[in-house]
Amino acid sequence: MELVVEQGSLADVATPLLVVNLFEDVPALGGATAAVDVALGGLIGRIRESGELRGKAGEMVVLHNPGGLALRAERVLVVGLGRRDDFGAETARRAAANAARKARDLRVREYATVLHGAGAGDLQPGEAAEALAEGTLLALYRYDQFKHDDDPPQAVERAAVIERDPERIERVRAGLTAGTAMAEATMTARDLAQGQANLVTPEYLANQAKVVAERYGFDCQVYDLDGIRELRLGGLLAVNQGSANPARFVVMRYQAPRAEKTLAVVGKGITFDSGGISIKPAENMHHMRHDKSGAAAVVGFMQVAKALALPVNVLGIFAATDNLPSGSAYRPGDVIRARNGVTMEILNTDAEGRVVLSDALVYAGEQGPDLIVDLATLTGACVVALGHHASGLFGNDDALVDLMRRAGEASGERVWPLPLWPEYDQHIKGPMADVRNTGGRAAGAITAAWFLAHFVDGKPWLHLDIAGTAWTEGSWGELPPYLVKETATGVGVRLLVHFTRLWAGR
Ligand code: BES
Ligand code: MN
Ligand code: ZN
Repeated sequence: MELVVEQGSLADVATPLLVVNLFEDVPALGGATAAVDVALGGLIGRIRESGELRGKAGEMVVLHNPGGLALRAERVLVVGLGRRDDFGAETARRAAANAARKARDLRVREYATVLHGAGAGDLQPGEAAEALAEGTLLALYRYDQFKHDDDPPQAVERAAVIERDPERIERVRAGLTAGTAMAEATMTARDLAQGQANLVTPEYLANQAKVVAERYGFDCQVYDLDGIRELRLGGLLAVNQGSANPARFVVMRYQAPRAEKTLAVVGKGITFDSGGISIKPAENMHHMRHDKSGAAAVVGFMQVAKALALPVNVLGIFAATDNLPSGSAYRPGDVIRARNGVTMEILNTDAEGRVVLSDALVYAGEQGPDLIVDLATLTGACVVALGHHASGLFGNDDALVDLMRRAGEASGERVWPLPLWPEYDQHIKGPMADVRNTGGRAAGAITAAWFLAHFVDGKPWLHLDIAGTAWTEGSWGELPPYLVKETATGVGVRLLVHFTRLWAGR
């Protein structure tokens, strides 16, 4: 789908659908909506007075142009923005997402829209355009390559943002370009995370990383089993030994123009998590195709780092394997040595994410980055703590934790900090090895994070537990409209873009 900006006035645009917006609590219609209302002979105002349209977030009304008016659009879609005090980039994303979905439902091939939030919403034109592009493109995402559809939806092919002021056109265009790059990278992550385990094997995941690297122009090195043995990635080898699919270890590099800092991003890439010998219950096990969402986010972030020429070097790393039970599988009680020599006692083979991340974090640290950020669908305990509305955030530097929290607010991909007090580390200590891979039921997300901390050697580090935010289920109630039901979210990609902007300070 194509997103463009056109200079002009709304009333003059010939389009099957014109999108305008409405705040819930303003005394009178304003800006572009007021202008369209005048052209419609005051219809929007009358509908508002009748109470049928209040401007609540998510509310939408379609008005048909009866003709003979000073308005060339065939239809007008009014989308609610909610209260003005609550307005932010996230409101703009959601308004754009709602409009895009409505356009698809109405089966129009193209539409025109105002730039939500660039007037009374107080967003900068570039910021508003970026949000609009993200919301629009992400809302229309589908993973349907394996489904036959007798009545396929009409694809929306084009949306034009109508901007009156010629001086703002360039900034709007730049914002659309950036938002499009962010949405496309998020969709790369969604495709990889959503893909079923009989398609997305470790080998496939590594090959796709190579494909993205070649298309966008960054470096990608893939280690096969021999390479992984040479690197002595003992954790990855242990988890992989129960599977017929050989593991892969992938290292990607993006060199920024004039970079002062290097960010390492590390992803959990479990292509299917059955639990292994400590096998999971059958119910809902199919969701464990998503256990590679951290790795998927790393590939997506590499893509957008290059596409946006982000001002820091990025090292992207993931360790990929499935976790299966078999005669060769690793067992509870096994003791394993990670790349840095730290030994781990396996109490539960279902706590495999931390076991493969150990090596990946050690490898990342050896490359001398200024900061390591890992993303992992690590614990059900994190879902118990935060549900599906935020990812768990951990780190060994309060200023960095705070920066990531701000990135969560800015991106709409919320994160919330949990503590790493040293008392929790006691839960994973035992007589057999340096660390145990589980610490019991209490504080499961925190003890998992503490396990990872043993492999970063005190270097600046943030850990994102995305177990609750990596995909959506039908039973979860209302979702932000740019997320798709029963589908991977691609969480982490846009969060890391916002984080990098804050961290680089430019
Ligand atoms: N991949 C799971 C965590 C998970 C659970 C992600 C639910 C998303 C939704 C992870 O490998 C796992 O199985 N963790 C165990 C750890 C336990 C055995 C200490 C868990 O959370 O139950
Ligand atoms: Mn597991
Ligand atoms: Zn897992």
